Formats: sequence, structure tokens, C-alpha cells
Amino acid sequence: MNVKLVNITKEFIDPERESGKLVAVKDFNLEIEEGEFVTLLGPSGCGKTTTLRIIAGFETPNAGEIFIGAKNVSADPPNKRDTSMVFQSYAIFPHMSVEQNVGFGLELKGKPKAEIAVEVRNIMSAMGIEELARRRPDQLSGGQQQRVALARAIVNRPSVLLFDEPLSNLDAKLREQMRVEIRRIQQTYKITSIYVTHDQAEAMTVSDRIVVMNRGTIMQVGTPFEIYSRPENQFVADFIGRVNLLPVTVEKLTEHGCVAVDAQARKLEAASAARGVEVGRKAFLMLRPESLSVEKDTEANGFGVGESSDMPQRMLFARGVIEKSVYLGATVEYEIDASLDRPVLAVSHDPVDVGFWHPGDPVALRYNPRAAHLFPR
Ligand SMILES: Nc1ncnc2c1ncn2[C@@H]1O[C@H](COP(=O)(O)OP(=O)(O)OP(=O)(O)O)[C@@H](O)[C@H]1O
Ligand SMILES: [Mg+2]
Repeated sequence: MNVKLVNITKEFIDPERESGKLVAVKDFNLEIEEGEFVTLLGPSGCGKTTTLRIIAGFETPNAGEIFIGAKNVSADPPNKRDTSMVFQSYAIFPHMSVEQNVGFGLELKGKPKAEIAVEVRNIMSAMGIEELARRRPDQLSGGQQQRVALARAIVNRPSVLLFDEPLSNLDAKLREQMRVEIRRIQQTYKITSIYVTHDQAEAMTVSDRIVVMNRGTIMQVGTPFEIYSRPENQFVADFIGRVNLLPVTVEKLTEHGCVAVDAQARKLEAASAARGVEVGRKAFLMLRPESLSVEKDTEANGFGVGESSDMPQRMLFARGVIEKSVYLGATVEYEIDASLDRPVLAVSHDPVDVGFWHPGDPVALRYNPRAAHLFPR
């Protein structure tokens, strides 16, 4: 079912402040479609868990309303909301076998035993845990326990599945495996899902849309592509990955994108611009490290921007000197001193093919305007 949050605000008592109030969630508005997988992403303390608990009914907001389907559930207790929550700690019952754990919710509902057995079998097989049916939780690995917890939540076919950092107790490898698994299961059962994490890669993998939060408010809602490649502000650009920002002033908006000028009155082009980017206003031109190529700095590396409507293939982002180079096998990561506020980061793929740069080398950093994006400064 779809979920709608309207003007949600939640304040807690904060003994450390004079006012005594801490605003955990502020004027929060969000609509989640039926079958959609939406992730709340943001730094520690930004209000993710609180928002999730408000949807589940474990927390009452000071203001605002919650709809699940067409129904206003704001006054309903958790057990009347038809949501199911998967936590970081698996919270599976230690004295029950795997199949008893998975079937527990159905038993509470008073379903016939034979029916329960069939449904438990099906979900365990979908999760790849059918051979573990008779084991007890202490005989399972962390990943297996998390699968049991997930199976137990899904078997009830809730209208909405809520996840609070379900993978944070697992090691890196298992986490990667499980997030693909969670996405697959969610797609199979098409359950509307709201997922909380502070891990940007995890959010990118599982989500239809990502809600980036900071201090209880929404900074941007968008697809993983929009959040990563077309952020609306610096907070989102920084939070979702590493980024290079060049301060510019917007000169022209065209059908091909935008032209901006930097502090040296140099013209740069970008294919896209966020809301609020207007001619004459200050902006940042943004490029991800993988969109910058590190090239030899020669005279041939002119700026190459004309008034022509065709976008040039590659443009100069900055000139600089290699400060640091980190070889990672598949890639090399460079830090370049280009006399900007912070070092420019560039990731070079297939270094065996394109060659290596060393500290002290003067280089030109080039980009394809298609990868460049502007947002207000
Ligand atoms: N019961 C409570 N009483 C007082 N303050 C609370 C309570 N629960 C949460 N808070 C505060 O509300 C803010 C938001 O907390 P919340 O748990 O929602 O953050 P979060 O985004 O889930 O963080 P994390 O990533 O660390 O889990 C924090 O400042 C937290 O200290
Ligand atoms: Mg939390």
C-alpha cells in the first residue's frame, strides 16, 4: 500500500538545552507509492529511526498525519497498522527453531497449521534457508539470522515493510550480498518498503528512491541517479560520495545545458542544473572523481569553449600538480593540488592502459560536460 507522511514534526525533551526541546523530525512530507522501495539516508542523529518509528506507530508525532493506503492511521496503535519491522539486532526468538520463528506471526493470527507449514516452506525456500528449518538461532551465522528475521517479517505479508539498518551487524562482504538479496525479495513480493541506512552504497543498491535527510529535514528526494549525479545542494553532493566543486557564476542557460564562469573568467559548460540555478547567480560546478580524466598538461589543452551550440567533447576543469596517488589495482586515485579550497580528486580506470601519474607531475583535468552539473551556492 502507499504511505503518506504529511507535515510530521517530532520533538523530544532535551535535558542539555535551555529550551528543553530537541526537534528530531521537522515538517516532514513524503509520499511512497505502492510497491516502492524508499530509503531514508542521512548522518547519525538526523531523524531516520524516529521517522520509521512514527510510521510504525511506536512514536507519536507532535504534529502531522500518517496515511497507509487511504486510511489515516495517525491515532492507531502499532498492531493496527499492518507494518512489519526488521531491525539491526535480529530479535528472533532464541528458544525457537528457524521454522517456528518464521511461522510465529501466522500462528498469532490463528492460521491453520497446514497453511502455516506451506507458507513457511515457501518463504524459507525463497530466502534460501530451508535446510536450516530445524536449527536454533545460536546455530546460525549472522547472515543466516538476518535472513530468518527477514523471512519472519515477510511471511505476514504486511502492507509496509520497515527496515532499520538491518545489515549493520554483518561484515562487509555479507552486507553486500544481503542488500542484493533484500532487493530481490522485495521485488518478488512487491511489498512497499521503507529502509533506513547511513551507508550510501547500500541506499544506491536497494532503492527506487532515496530521501537524503539532515537534522530532521529532507534535503532531497530522488532516484539513485538523481541523488548521485544531479544533487540539488552541497549537503547531498557531499553525503552521497566524493565530489569536486568549482565555484562559478551562471552565465547562460541553453537547451544543451549551462555555461558558467569561474573566478578567472574562464567559461565552463555543464549539461544539467538543479532548481535555483539562474543566470547571474552563484553556483557550484560539480564533477565526481570518476568523471575527471588526468591528462598531460600541454598547450593543446586549451579551454576550448566557443559560442557554438555543439558541446565540445572534453573541457578543462582545472590544471594542477599531482599531490598523491593511491594504486588500488582496478583504479588509481589521485589527489591534485589545483589551488582550490580542497584537493581535486580523480579516479583513473584501467591504469595499465591509460598510464600512471606521480606526485609532482603537472596535469590537466578534463571532463565531458555531460557529466557536469550545477547547483546553487
Ligand atoms: N527517546 C528519545 N528521547 C530524546 N531524544 C531522542 C529520543 N530518540 C531520539 N532522540 C534524538 O532525536 C534525534 C534523532 O534520532 P534518531 O534515532 O531518529 O536518529 P537516526 O537518524 O536514526 O541516527 P542513527 O543513524 O545514529 O541511528 C537525535 O538527536 C536523538 O538523540
Ligand atoms: Mg537510527
